[in-house]
Amino acid sequence: MAIERIVNPELDEADENSQDEQRIENILRPTSFQDYVGQDRIKKVLKVSIDAAKKRGEPLDHILLYGPPGLGKTTLANIIAREMGAQIRVTSGPAIDRAADLASILTNLGDGDVLFIDEIHRLNRSVEEVLYSAMEDYAIDIMLGKGPSARSLRLDVPKFTLIGATTRTGALAAPLRDRFGMLHRLEYYNPEEIAKIVQRSAKLLDTDIKQDAANSLAVRSRLTPRIANRLLKRVRDYADVNGDGIIDAVVTSSALELLEVDEHGLDPADRMLLAAIIDNHGGGPVGLNTLAAVLGDEISTVEDFYEPYLMQIGFLERTPRGRKATNKAYKHLGKSQHLRDKDDSSPQEKLL
Ligand SMILES: Nc1ncnc2c1ncn2[C@@H]1O[C@H](COP(=O)(O)OP(=O)(O)O)[C@@H](O)[C@H]1O
Ligand SMILES: [Mg+2]
Repeated sequence: MAIERIVNPELDEADENSQDEQRIENILRPTSFQDYVGQDRIKKVLKVSIDAAKKRGEPLDHILLYGPPGLGKTTLANIIAREMGAQIRVTSGPAIDRAADLASILTNLGDGDVLFIDEIHRLNRSVEEVLYSAMEDYAIDIMLGKGPSARSLRLDVPKFTLIGATTRTGALAAPLRDRFGMLHRLEYYNPEEIAKIVQRSAKLLDTDIKQDAANSLAVRSRLTPRIANRLLKRVRDYADVNGDGIIDAVVTSSALELLEVDEHGLDPADRMLLAAIIDNHGGGPVGLNTLAAVLGDEISTVEDFYEPYLMQIGFLERTPRGRKATNKAYKHLGKSQHLRDKDDSSPQEKLL
């Protein structure tokens, strides 16, 4: 079974705490560009497109938002709809089973509405095909009847804007990807931005947090707003129980120690992953299958959730032959490197 992680960047719907988290997330979710911290380049481009679309009285181009979970894709989709003065209809790839389900969603939209499809890479093939013509021509072809008497009927759909979100563009079919007018990759935030988000959230939760505590939460939150908010909540609980409710640097570091989140935001599962590469495989390269087996997790979970952050902070490297722990990872885990190649790459790789 997979390990439960405080630093999981996703909302786990099966988790009993998640309803509470969902409620808090909704309180903390920014509703305007102004409150949406960071991602400045994306915001700038979006604002221009929104203004232009509004001026022309046309729907906004279809937008694909991609990047690791917890970075603000759903939030941004909602802000875009609001800025357009449009209604938003929210669904997700796995929730749309059949082409007919999508047809019914589409025909029930109004002109200018936003359709948000989360996890759009998980749409099935037949649904995807309906989406193509809807995106391109604002029309869909539906089949009536079966066998030789079957005929297809073309139906107009309202001029909507599709906003798709995905953690992996690689998994998206090229014809689908090509039909988006804008593709935006959300980046990890820098510590100052996360500290700002933490301060904003603390205010909304009516909690006092000192600046140095916010800074230290920022680096331990894997540069991810969702995790920052979750850790803030846990630290706030700790401060209420063990102190006077004020969150300072001391309270923060004891709380995080209790949660086993270290100063880089690594939790026991990350350390286990890195230690397995170092201790059992000489630092790598190790295949993804092996890593997934070590963690008792799905390959896609390792790829989508563990790896992006470890690569972002330079602890893990992807090579054609597998994953490698970097010198930084050795150092962080206090492992000696005497068994490794000095320059970190194998003879085969030097030839590549
Ligand atoms: N740029 C941001 N500024 C402030 N808070 C943010 C920002 N991005 C995300 N958040 C917070 O993080 C939480 C998770 O964001 P969400 O949009 O659900 O991420 P994703 O859809 O990419 O998984 C939101 O509830 C929101 O409070
Ligand atoms: Mg989301």
